[in-house]
This record gives sequence, C-alpha cells and structure tokens, in this order.
Amino acid sequence: MQPIEIDHVAIAVEDIEKAVSYYQNSLGAKLVHRERIESDGVEEALLIVAESYIQLLTPTSESSPVARFLAKRGEGLHHIGWRVPDCAAALEEVKEEGVEVIDQKPRPGSRGTTVAFIHPKSSFGCMIELVQEGPAAN
Ligand code: CO
Repeated sequence: MQPIEIDHVAIAVEDIEKAVSYYQNSLGAKLVHRERIESDGVEEALLIVAESYIQLLTPTSESSPVARFLAKRGEGLHHIGWRVPDCAAALEEVKEEGVEVIDQKPRPGSRGTTVAFIHPKSSFGCMIELVQEGPAAN
C-alpha cells in the first residue's frame, strides 16, 4: 500500500471538554470538527495541527471499545490514522501481506471518510486506521 500522510493521532480521554480546552488553550491546536459516531460508541473532537489532526475520543456508552480501552489501559494513545488514496485497495494489500485486520471491509468513518482498522497485534502494539478522504468508490 501507499500511505500518503499521517491523517490523525487518536487519544482516548475521560473528559473530552477538558481535553479540548487543554489542547486548544495550552497547546495551540485548533478545534475544527466535533462528531458523535453512534456505531463506534464514541464522541470525537478533531484539532488540526499543520496538515494532520489530533483526534480526542471519548466513549458514549460502556460497551464502546474506547470504554474498554480506558478501563484497561487508561487515557493515552489509542491509534494512528494513516491517510491512503484508496482504503479498500490498501486493506487488500495489507491482508495479502498477512497483516491482521479488525475490519475485513472498509466502513464509513467520521466527517465522511472511509476507514478500516489494523489490529495492534500486527503493528507492535499500535492500532492503525487506514483513512481515505470521502466515501468508498463502490
Ligand atoms: Co481515528
């Protein structure tokens, strides 16, 4: 596959309002997007830093994978989003390489993106999200 940019670095947080305020006021990141993603059980805040985002993520339900992450590991780095031109093609390529994936098929992400997750087991403990701008081609 051909990654073209770091799309975002996602950080799991307990109190998203507090985290947004800190990242904006103390670190100078600019808040550009808020979204509640019901299918993932999370609320996100995207703060832009140059061409990439810092994504603050907080669970909206106890069954959310992010709620389980926070309970097990506490706040901190959750995953890194790698921008790719074509999520479906990138996913097929990494699967052919034997990479363990979480999503067998791309699915809709926040702000109209198309995404698929690679298992942290395959990537030395860091979950990777393949992110394509816009909807899937087919
Ligand atoms: Co993400």
